[in-house]
Amino acid sequence: MDIRKFSLPEIIFGHGSMEYTGSYALQLGAKKVFVVSDPGLEKSGWVKKLLQIIEASSLRWVYYSNVSSNPRDYEVHTGAELYKAEGADVVIALGGGSPMDMAKGVATVVSNGGTIQDYEGANLITSPLPPMIFLPSTAGSGSDISQFAIITDVGRKVKMSLISRSLTPNVSIIDPELLSTVDDDLLISSAVDALAHAVESYVSLIAHTLTETQALKAIHLILENMQPALKTRNPNALEFLSIAATAAGMSFSNASLGACHAIAHSLGGFFDTTHGMVHPVLLPAVMKYNLPACEEKMATIGEIVLGKRLSSARQTAAGGITRLHEIFLELGTATHFREIVNDRSAFPQICEMATKDACLLTNPRPATAEELLAICEEVW
Ligand SMILES: [Fe+2]
Repeated sequence: MDIRKFSLPEIIFGHGSMEYTGSYALQLGAKKVFVVSDPGLEKSGWVKKLLQIIEASSLRWVYYSNVSSNPRDYEVHTGAELYKAEGADVVIALGGGSPMDMAKGVATVVSNGGTIQDYEGANLITSPLPPMIFLPSTAGSGSDISQFAIITDVGRKVKMSLISRSLTPNVSIIDPELLSTVDDDLLISSAVDALAHAVESYVSLIAHTLTETQALKAIHLILENMQPALKTRNPNALEFLSIAATAAGMSFSNASLGACHAIAHSLGGFFDTTHGMVHPVLLPAVMKYNLPACEEKMATIGEIVLGKRLSSARQTAAGGITRLHEIFLELGTATHFREIVNDRSAFPQICEMATKDACLLTNPRPATAEELLAICEEVW
């Protein structure tokens, strides 16, 4: 086997684990922490609780919540100015993918200088970042685990992928209790994002037994716990969704993703769509396109989705993809692009941009802009 490296943060998992935030910040040398979150989490009371925990450790704090749902370059730069002006020393993010990616952007700019655009691509961050502690409030993005950050370049209408070992936070504190206040739409779009992370990293060209194990377990747990979590907010189901999102994060952070995410990034940069809304539309179509390149692996996914194997690998794989589409319909998500964007004339440009996204490099079947366009047209 090849020599491979695996990047992971220290993970503290479990109900009530949020209480450990202050002591971990102190261990990392904090005197004044830079806290990133958003108005939704302020409203649900979690920001207040986090700040109380931080104050109980005699730490000072500065709070930043200027975060769009697709975090923007100028918001990163404003945050970096505030961080420097306040003399902060440790970054704490509480939120879904947006506040966490914002925190990564701020940490990058304050320690490496320049603008966030300077770090678009892989391994361009050269100086160490301030310590980062992340508390995910959704079970989906995996930003608390991953070495990825996605920031929108507003001028170019492009979602930039930044990939670097430095972007993995030092500590990920995963408290499933935070999921108790998430609404249905966010619960679904986050879980579907985690499902796409698991599927795409499982069939990635650089998947490894260590990542494949995490990916398959994540698929299984998401499908098993999605409905009970939605219907009753059952604490066990929420905890399993958190574990699934974490496992999918471990997998995609180290095995990367594929065409579904390449198009989702490109589309999100252009239309400002919610990331998790794109996957129910695209994932089955991308899986169908990839099927000839990874039939056995798609059959393994199909077996989990269907709960059984059909008479051939091809049938099991195809049956799994069809069932996945049905599951998205049952969840009430959009399954056609026309339901989430109002104009397809930009699709050729979006697909052209998607061919430059780092995620496409690991897609199991090569895809040209024309082939990506055919996938998008199929699900218009
Ligand atoms: Fe994603």
